[in-house]
Amino acid sequence: MKIAAFVGSNRKESLNKKLTIFMQERYKDQFEMDILPLEELPMYNQDEEFNPPEIVNDIRRRIKACDGLLFATPEYNHSISGFLKNGLDWFSRVEKVMVNKPAMIVGVSAGAMGTVKAQMHLRQILNSTGVGAVTLPGNEVFIGSAVEKFDENGRFTHEQTIDFLDNVVKNYIDWINKIK
Ligand code: FNR
Repeated sequence: MKIAAFVGSNRKESLNKKLTIFMQERYKDQFEMDILPLEELPMYNQDEEFNPPEIVNDIRRRIKACDGLLFATPEYNHSISGFLKNGLDWFSRVEKVMVNKPAMIVGVSAGAMGTVKAQMHLRQILNSTGVGAVTLPGNEVFIGSAVEKFDENGRFTHEQTIDFLDNVVKNYIDWINKIK
């Protein structure tokens, strides 16, 4: 099984990126994870959508080849980041490559709420006509107070959350197999 991952933060030390890399390694026997290089995308411009830079075609192919999507979202001002929205806008147009793709969401934030508000917006966006991804019901992964959950080497170490994540990933894989 192949999962394409959208990481919604472009900063080097992103905790959402670190969590995604942790998941790529931990669940490698269950799926191969392709972390999409969203940082290579230019700002979306409707004038360019029919003749986009090659990176857009490259990521389109990678999304088409996957069985499911993972979104790791930060919360920026109670919503998703502009960086993640930019990626969603590119792939919601021309070839709508995310339509009917099963999607799972996780999110890490410094605050206690663990990206609750960002994820509410993200679900709404994923369910729009252009994006059209199908979100895993329930199974909400809100990782708040993040500083305490990563060790000094940036490794995700919070056992209780890891157990929960194992369960959510299992539900996600079972659900993909059921609906496909
Ligand atoms: C934040 N942060 C933040 N946190 C939160 O819980 N709710 C919020 O609304 C916001 N808003 C916000 C806006 C902007 C512009 C920035 C840069 C940050 C803090 C955020 O959770 C924290 O920086 C995370 O570490 C960002 O995720 P990455 O980059 O570590 O993946």
